[in-house]
Amino acid sequence: MSYDDLVEKIVRLKEERNAVILAHNYQRPEVQDIADFTGDSLGLSQEAAKTDADVIVFCGVLFMAETAAILSPEKTVLLPDPLAGCPMADMITAEQLRQRKREYPGSPAVCYVNSTAAVKAECDVCCTSSNAVKIVGSMPDDLPLLFVPDKYLGMYAASKTHKKLILWEGYCPTHMRITADDINALKREHPAAISLVHPECRPEVIAAADFALSTGAMLKKVRESSEREFIIGTEVGILHPLTKENPDKVFYPASDRAVCPNMKRITLEKVLWALERMEERITVPPEIRERAVRAVDRMLSMS
Ligand code: 13P
Ligand code: SF4
Repeated sequence: MSYDDLVEKIVRLKEERNAVILAHNYQRPEVQDIADFTGDSLGLSQEAAKTDADVIVFCGVLFMAETAAILSPEKTVLLPDPLAGCPMADMITAEQLRQRKREYPGSPAVCYVNSTAAVKAECDVCCTSSNAVKIVGSMPDDLPLLFVPDKYLGMYAASKTHKKLILWEGYCPTHMRITADDINALKREHPAAISLVHPECRPEVIAAADFALSTGAMLKKVRESSEREFIIGTEVGILHPLTKENPDKVFYPASDRAVCPNMKRITLEKVLWALERMEERITVPPEIRERAVRAVDRMLSMS
């Protein structure tokens, strides 16, 4: 099937099903191009909460589709590839978090939205990379906070808020591939470039860069900047919206190795199949959803 046929079929079926297509900034360019809304984790969950569509086709990874299902249990949420998971989200189970809570009685638990619904159900509040500093900063000071699963986002939030955080040993394997040497070498090659990295990067990478920002905040920063050259330290999919929105600016990816294989599992063909077969449906058991929604709603109301 030609690209045009594929897109035409997706558009037609989307209307028939009253569906909306949401795509994360790391998705393949052609998937981002057919989406009704593209954005970072926070923007996508805000969009999922307010859409009046009957069906949400989530072009992202499982925890994002689960968050949409938590927020909109009456809607059909489809993930075009059920194997598109997030390895970081799978680095902690609900039972492991319960055990940690027993070790630190009374400590509030903050979870990065890159976590399973069952882990969210154990937490007081969620955060994304765009609001982690604000949310951690607004938590009470009397007891240390439990922060799961991303130790690097936790370290970053702790450094900006001076809160005491008990970190979990989770990390993003894609952002781990970006090194401080990558940033420093590009800075030497392009001395006029501003360097933007994701807070999932290791502390030495963040220290080497000018700014640590979520993918949505990176797009905003570049859009509003009068600078011309940028070093980009995150998953390479972000280069598509950056170059599309800013054709006169130049971008240097910090590392060509920063590719999230899970994000890339979603293709246009799979989006079409998802709409044809109404699969893979992502649901969250009611007893987990009822508890997880409190942490997600609390984050949204603080954002
Ligand atoms: P953003 O919320 O910045 O889009 O990040 C999502 C993610 O999975 C980063 O690895
Ligand atoms: Fe998970 Fe990292 Fe992929 Fe984001 S980039 S979905 S954190 S593995």
